[in-house]
Amino acid sequence: MSSSTIEVRPLTGALGAELLGPDLAKDLSPELIQEIRNNLLQYGVIFFRDQDLTPEQHLNFSKMFGPLVINPVYGSVDGYPEIMPVIKDVKDTYNIGDTWHSDMTYMPEPPLGSILYAKEVPKVGGDTLWTNMQMAYEFLPEPLKNSLNGLNAIHSDAFLTARTEERNAGRSTKLVVDPNRPELRALHPVVRTHDETGKKALYVNYPFTYSFEGMSREESLPLLNQLYAHSSKPEFSCRFRWQKGSIAFWDNRCTMHYACNDYQGHRRVMNRITIAGPKPQ
Ligand code: SIN
Repeated sequence: MSSSTIEVRPLTGALGAELLGPDLAKDLSPELIQEIRNNLLQYGVIFFRDQDLTPEQHLNFSKMFGPLVINPVYGSVDGYPEIMPVIKDVKDTYNIGDTWHSDMTYMPEPPLGSILYAKEVPKVGGDTLWTNMQMAYEFLPEPLKNSLNGLNAIHSDAFLTARTEERNAGRSTKLVVDPNRPELRALHPVVRTHDETGKKALYVNYPFTYSFEGMSREESLPLLNQLYAHSSKPEFSCRFRWQKGSIAFWDNRCTMHYACNDYQGHRRVMNRITIAGPKPQ
């Protein structure tokens, strides 16, 4: 398939675009993979519709963008350690990802991105939202930008593990229970420079950023909460309505996402594959 066969339909003025044309079950040419990558860099999150992928095809496509990551805190699909099931069943009360977050920022090298494939979706609800953290940074007042540049923040998975039993009881996708596993912690710049585009993005998120370096959590929270409120403005975001066979591929280095838990009593089944990323700079 030549690159000219992709039709790009931007979703909002902030980020997100649907890419029409490619069949991701097929072996795609290096040119087409490069074009998909360029769209990811331009739009922050890209979407495909009407895909019919086996786990192997989902893995093959994902591997075109880098080595894959096995999630350290959630289980995997039987026989596929690199595929994380994201399931909310009829009786579940919790879903995964119902806070604005960037994935796994408690790791020293958080993922480049994830490729989420919809296998079953509720008739209504279960949308996912993304927000553009480069835009969020750009629209901060200049003095605040200046004081955030050069600052680091501590990220931790304590938020997840603190609620393991409660969350596991009401959710089909289980957190791995291992009381001996040490807390995962990492120090990252509060303003991150994208390793491919060179653009700056705000890099803090509600569930995983614990505090600014050298400050207590209590001292950090007022400014962190102000940054969270700012970065989740509708003007910086997009919202995606899933169908069976839809795929979202997001750049985890410069976006956050939020999975809407508004479909109680209905089932939603997705498979997620995550691609390794560089140490944030
Ligand atoms: C996540 O990766 O946070 C889940 C996203 C979703 O289920 O829409």
